[in-house]
Amino acid sequence: MKFADRTITLKDGRTCILTPATPDMAEEMIDYMKKTSVETPFLTSYPDEIDFDPEHEREVLGRRLEDPRSAMVAAMVDGKLAGNSSVYGVGAKRKKQHRCMMGIALVEEFWGLGIGTALIGFLTELARQIGYEQMELIVVADNKRARALYEKCGFIECGRQHHGMKFDDGSYHDEILMYKEL
Ligand SMILES: CC(C)(COP(=O)(O)OP(=O)(O)OC[C@H]1O[C@@H](n2cnc3c(N)ncnc32)[C@H](O)[C@@H]1OP(=O)(O)O)[C@@H](O)C(=O)NCCC(=O)NCCS
Repeated sequence: MKFADRTITLKDGRTCILTPATPDMAEEMIDYMKKTSVETPFLTSYPDEIDFDPEHEREVLGRRLEDPRSAMVAAMVDGKLAGNSSVYGVGAKRKKQHRCMMGIALVEEFWGLGIGTALIGFLTELARQIGYEQMELIVVADNKRARALYEKCGFIECGRQHHGMKFDDGSYHDEILMYKEL
């Protein structure tokens, strides 16, 4: 969906613009996905699995922008893509239409500045506008920083997926399911 930009001030005094992710950001978005997948082990993809071509990414971003039940919010600092977050429906059928999922990832140099908190606050407003009643997410149990952010933003733990992830080094990691009433 399309929505108006929001400007926030970060903890270091810089300005950050929260804006809809648009097809012209495709190449920057692919670079950002590659970068974040190297910087943190807690995202779903390994860097070698991010093999999208810009044309495909442009189409994906265009579809998300036109989808009235989905919102993708890019966080821009000094003209650079600092992070991205999105909200989308769990399912198209009527029995699932009250539920949405959210995801978020920032480039490491922009951690700890308050962008995560602002993005989740904004996503919460957008999800309510769409008509969702409950927002859900999945987080790797060892991801302390993300779990602290989610708890601060009102998410409650509601389940655990045993060995939800297996890393290339052979280690298993549980995933925590969380939700928040909107
Ligand atoms: C998780 C992530 C989104 C947090 O975003 P952020 O912008 O750094 O978060 P904020 O600056 O808004 O901080 C939110 C809260 O996290 C907590 N926090 C910050 N640093 C922390 C740390 N080192 N350890 C534990 N908790 C921490 C604090 O409670 C903070 O709130 P406060 O500043 O009011 O005390 C970001 O670090 C990130 O993108 N990580 C990599 C990708 C990822 O893990 N995504 C989540 C997948 S489920």
